[in-house]
Amino acid sequence: MSGGDPASEYNAAAIERGLDAPFAVEYHDSIGSTNDRARELAAAGEASIVVLADEQTGGRGRLDREWSSPSGGIWCSIVVRPERPPESVPILTLAAAVATTRAAREAGIDAGIKWPNDVLVPDGSDADRSSGDDRKLAGILTETAHSEEGERFVIVGIGLNADLDPDQLPEGSTSMRAQVGAVDRRLVVQRLLERFDELRCSSDDEVLDAWREDALTLGRQVRVETGDDPIVGKAVDVTAPGSLVIDTIHGRERVHAGDCEHLRPVEE
Ligand code: BTN
Repeated sequence: MSGGDPASEYNAAAIERGLDAPFAVEYHDSIGSTNDRARELAAAGEASIVVLADEQTGGRGRLDREWSSPSGGIWCSIVVRPERPPESVPILTLAAAVATTRAAREAGIDAGIKWPNDVLVPDGSDADRSSGDDRKLAGILTETAHSEEGERFVIVGIGLNADLDPDQLPEGSTSMRAQVGAVDRRLVVQRLLERFDELRCSSDDEVLDAWREDALTLGRQVRVETGDDPIVGKAVDVTAPGSLVIDTIHGRERVHAGDCEHLRPVEE
C-alpha cells in the first residue's frame, strides 16, 4: 500500500472497482464535512454508502473540536443502518478504530488504539511502547442520524492522516507518509472499508476481542477526564459497549466517555 503508485486514481469508480465490501462511494475533491454530507444521505434513507473527500474545509472532531483535513488525507464517513440494538451501537466506533488500525498495519505502520478510538503510532523507543510520546494518526467521530421516515442510521466518520507531511497537521500528529513514505490512498481506503465491513457483521464480543488485541491503553496508567473529577489508575479492560475499566486507588471504575491520557510509567 505504501510505496505503491501514489498517483493511482482516487475517485469513486476506482475505489468501488476491487472493493470487496458492499459499499457505494460518493467522492468529493473538496467538501465542508463528510459527516454532514452523510447526514443528508441518511435523511434521504440511503445506507451502505461512503462519503469520501480529498479535502474538508470544515472537518469536525470529537468534543466539537476542529479536524484539520488538508488535501492528501483520507476523510470518509460511512452511513450504516445498524443491525444491532441502540445500546450496542458504540461498538461500531470500536470496529472503525480496529479497521483503521489494521489498514495502517497492512501498510507497514505499527499503529495501535488509545481508548476510546484514537489511532496512534507509539514512538517505539522502549520495548513495551510506553514512553508516552505517541503521535496521532487517525480519529473517529460517530454520530447518529434519522431518515425523514424516522429510521435510525449511524454515521461513522474516519479521518486518517495519509499522504500528508506532519507540518500540514496539528502538533502531536503523524501521517502514513511520515511513517512509511508515499501512500496509495485507494488501496488503504479499500482495505479499511473491508475490515470495517467484516467487523460490523461480527458479534460484540468479537469486536471487543479485536479491539483488545490492538489496544495501546490496556496495562497502562491513564488519566481520564470525564467532566467530573479525573479518574486515574491502571486501564485493565474494555467492556461492552466500549467502557474502559480502570483500577484506581479507590477500587475498580468503569468509564463510558472522556478524554484519555496515557501517563508515563513511574521510574523505579
Ligand atoms: C477525533 O476528534 O479524533 C475524530 C476526528 C474525526 C474526523 C473525521 S474526517 C471524516 C469525518 N468528517 C468529519 O468532519 N469528521 C470525521
